[in-house]
Amino acid sequence: MLLFLDTANLEEIRAGARMGVIAGVTTNPTLLAREGVHNPEGHIKRIAEILPGPVSVEVTSTDPEGMVQEARTLARWSEHVVVKIPTTPAGLEAMRSLKEEGIPVNATLVFSANQALLAALAGATYVSIFLGRMDDVSWDGLNVARETVEIFRRQAISCQVLAASVRHPLHVLEAARAGCPVVTMPFPVLQQMIKHPLTEIGLERFLADWRRLQASRPEAKVP
Ligand code: E4P
Repeated sequence: MLLFLDTANLEEIRAGARMGVIAGVTTNPTLLAREGVHNPEGHIKRIAEILPGPVSVEVTSTDPEGMVQEARTLARWSEHVVVKIPTTPAGLEAMRSLKEEGIPVNATLVFSANQALLAALAGATYVSIFLGRMDDVSWDGLNVARETVEIFRRQAISCQVLAASVRHPLHVLEAARAGCPVVTMPFPVLQQMIKHPLTEIGLERFLADWRRLQASRPEAKVP
């Protein structure tokens, strides 16, 4: 299983890379806008240098030809770029052409197993299932992920189910239990995953006991 960071913030990506548990990055136009990125090419290249794994970058064209043209440009920025294509009829058409050109695609904005199946058949490498956005409208996002994983397994489809729109650590756990091979999460969720009060309290106690032991050594005592 692989964990990606869902961010365009370079500091967060550096921190994730240092932890050694993050294998890739997903961005989208909103995340790039949040960082005020006016030079997307330079920014994406920096991300790929910091974390040389798959970096998803989304097209903003909505017609198949425009998407394919844009995807070709994005793919030239770095060998690590995976092009995000919205899962629409035009998107499917673009995915098929990009598959033929050997440009890896992350089918984005997937909200049903049917959309995931079509994107996989059109040649996508990943299908991004937006868990949080489905939960927001009282739809069970994890169930869509579970169904998709099961369908891909039964049909021997090699496309990777990518759990996206992750809001909290339980989403990560449940996506892992569902068999999603990739989960992308915002940096604060990664921080929440590692944090546990018992670890902090336990560490404090170990260190306090160690300090007491050092202070009680005969040579530490002033005659
Ligand atoms: C997927 O790759 C998207 O970038 C992302 O997960 C969307 O999440 P949001 O619903 O928090 O915007």
